[in-house]
Amino acid sequence: MMGITAEINESVDFITSKSDLVPKIGLILGSGLGVMGDELSEKIAIPYDEIPYFKSSTVKGHNGRLLIGKLEGTPVMIMDGRFHYYEGYDMATVTYPVRVMAKLGIEKLIVTNSAGGCNPTFTPGNLMLITDHINFMGTNPLIGPNLEDFGTRFPDMSEAYDREFLDKVQTEAKKAHIDLKQGVYMGFSGPTYETPAEVRFAQIAGASAVGMSTVPEVIVAKHSGLKVLGISCITNLAAGLQFNLNHEEVVETTERVKEIFKKLVRLSVKTLTKVD
Ligand code: HPA
Repeated sequence: MMGITAEINESVDFITSKSDLVPKIGLILGSGLGVMGDELSEKIAIPYDEIPYFKSSTVKGHNGRLLIGKLEGTPVMIMDGRFHYYEGYDMATVTYPVRVMAKLGIEKLIVTNSAGGCNPTFTPGNLMLITDHINFMGTNPLIGPNLEDFGTRFPDMSEAYDREFLDKVQTEAKKAHIDLKQGVYMGFSGPTYETPAEVRFAQIAGASAVGMSTVPEVIVAKHSGLKVLGISCITNLAAGLQFNLNHEEVVETTERVKEIFKKLVRLSVKTLTKVD
């Protein structure tokens, strides 16, 4: 069996053979947020199932392809569709594309997701910058032998979401009249939505949003030395704060806010390009 580092190198060689662009900014698009991919110029798309050692995404509303192109004149790489723990993938698979991005030279990562709002002042359709997270998934993607090539055994998570990115994007969003909330994201394994009691627990723990992704990717991004910006699209209020929950509503809300979401992501790429 090949080691993970050799597998990553093979994925990287395959991807670099497909494009001359050298992106420094990576994006991961959450449920229903794949519309961003249409915004790229000079775009190439590589289906995940063509990339050595990539798996394919199984969730409705998620595509399964890697995009390389330019956004606001900046070369970017987009994961159009992600792998979730609840799909049955192990954490190494869920976070594999982040390792590949790191090896490809990505230095800044924008992660997006759909999430349930547990801050009672939020309404569906709000966009939120993630200030910090709570890993409530019951595991950690770094369990196992440490990949020394990437980072240290005990990574510091004091600033999982880069403070400078956050402040600058918030400032630019204000200038562009984009209403942008901030808050802590709490990651559950899913695939069930939370119970109302779990949501009350999340609120007491200080979370403003709950979801089923992002946390593993951000842990691996930090381990790999990437700086992270996190954006949640609050697609619904979390269990107990609204009548019932379903995936159709999640996709409908992302559809409703797609123009403002695209504007925010463009603005974020532009802002991050200017930060060292
Ligand atoms: N809970 C967890 N994940 C989610 C939710 C939610 O309410 N909405 C969208 N993704």
